[in-house]
Amino acid sequence: MTQPSIIIAPSLLAADFGRFAEAAIACEQAGAEYLHFDVMDGRFVPNITMGPAALKSLRPVSKAFFDAHLMIVEPERYIDAFLAAGADGITVQAEACTHLQRTLAQIRAGGARAGVALNPATPPDMLPYVLEDLDLVLVMTVNPGFGGQAFLPATLRKIREVRTLIEDSGLPIHIEVDGGITAETTPLVTAAGANVLVAGTSLFAHPGGLAQGMLALRAAAV
Ligand code: DX5
Ligand code: ZN
Repeated sequence: MTQPSIIIAPSLLAADFGRFAEAAIACEQAGAEYLHFDVMDGRFVPNITMGPAALKSLRPVSKAFFDAHLMIVEPERYIDAFLAAGADGITVQAEACTHLQRTLAQIRAGGARAGVALNPATPPDMLPYVLEDLDLVLVMTVNPGFGGQAFLPATLRKIREVRTLIEDSGLPIHIEVDGGITAETTPLVTAAGANVLVAGTSLFAHPGGLAQGMLALRAAAV
């Protein structure tokens, strides 16, 4: 298996909401390739966070890949707004999409990379039918809604299944993981086949600071 290189995607959910610009700059300076935006609507998940305005206001301060994770119902209604705000990639939750293929095609037609996220209890069965429309599969390693939750080990099996599917297809699709990603869980998810690591708490609350937290994740990747 050719192991793709590791990409780190700090989640602004764990940053100080009054200092997003400083956090975005710090992430880029520390070498983060992606900046992850956890968008929540209070319906698909209990929590409410940020919308396209947050991306738009940070676009001038960061050249990182803006990775928008939409934990919202009817995400197709907001894709144009996230594209206009400067999202480089948009990931929708499979459970929130009645017409998943159409929604993924809408993202790509707008010039962004298209991703699908699967909750911990969602099987990956639909993936073979949308593989050609995908740039990224996000295997949720917690139930979405809040930062700081414990990693669910049962998701490792799904990461392995998705890695096999992607390898067999030969398509250049990333596997992202999100939730409870730390220096302890990074070896597990990377060994299973994940290559994009979303992390909030383990980076922003790292005792040595964000840059040290990122180094710890890179060192723990296998
Ligand atoms: C869940 C979010 C989180 C978050 C990661 O809805 O998507 O998974 O950004 O937070 P940590 O790294 O704190 O688990
Ligand atoms: Zn996320």
